[in-house]
Amino acid sequence: MPLTEPTTTPSPAPTATARVATRRRLLMCRPRHYDVTYSINPWMHPENSTDPALAVRQWERLRELYRELGHFVEEIDPVVGLPDMVFAANGATVVDGKVYGARFRHAQRTAEGPAYLGWFERRGYRDVLWPEYVNEGEGDFLTVGRRILAGTGFRTDPRSHAEAQEFFGLPVTSLTLVDPEYYHLDTALAVLSDDEVMYYPAAFSEGSRAVLRTMFPHAILATAEDAAVFGLNAFSDGRHVLLPEAATGLKSQLSARGFEPVGVGLSELLKAGGSVKCCTLELRDR
Ligand code: ARG
Repeated sequence: MPLTEPTTTPSPAPTATARVATRRRLLMCRPRHYDVTYSINPWMHPENSTDPALAVRQWERLRELYRELGHFVEEIDPVVGLPDMVFAANGATVVDGKVYGARFRHAQRTAEGPAYLGWFERRGYRDVLWPEYVNEGEGDFLTVGRRILAGTGFRTDPRSHAEAQEFFGLPVTSLTLVDPEYYHLDTALAVLSDDEVMYYPAAFSEGSRAVLRTMFPHAILATAEDAAVFGLNAFSDGRHVLLPEAATGLKSQLSARGFEPVGVGLSELLKAGGSVKCCTLELRDR
């Protein structure tokens, strides 16, 4: 039988499907000791003033939104002297009930690693790995269904990508960030469902952009404007997507795909270079 030429059949573009939310368990840390006292990313200007009371109110609103949507929010006690501890996403990566601990790049945040791991150990999590390599938790490890996307370039050591793959037994894809304003993967890419993401292409190296196109040919692409208001620092439960309210372009792109965007105001936390997703660590228990 003669062989036929291989054809590349383009997969159909996604249409607005009925979106189903699933209940999530989340870990958050009240910004009781929040402030911008040092600068470890381009968004942080310690010379400008912050409003700690407003930061708490904005954070409480985010927590309320999660609860109103039916999610279960746990809290870890904030520690004096760790102003960035509010960014719970950086505290660990949890998949199938296994906890891969964080090891921070900068001295100012080093103590957060054991603070978070201690919480998991006290909570009875047994499968806990104290990491050998620098990695900033879900800031750079994003789970998409049964795959993990892993950022590097500014914070997380690429050797931790292999460490995580071995620990979780799930395929880990390395992605290189190239723009210091998007220093964590979760500032440049958000997971929307088990097989959909949205991202800002210019934050990635050319090779990583090609990888993302191959893996997610129909991904929502963010404009520079939406990325700059941290629109990609979003949390999705499969239906509702909580994201900074200023990301108006992304909101309409999400609606067109059948998601329900929920705008959140976290202006005070943006002064430290964080927003919705940074404040949220997902506890993916078995
Ligand atoms: N000031 C913190 C830092 O630079 C912000 C962390 C934001 N967290 C995140 N998941 N992107 O480390």
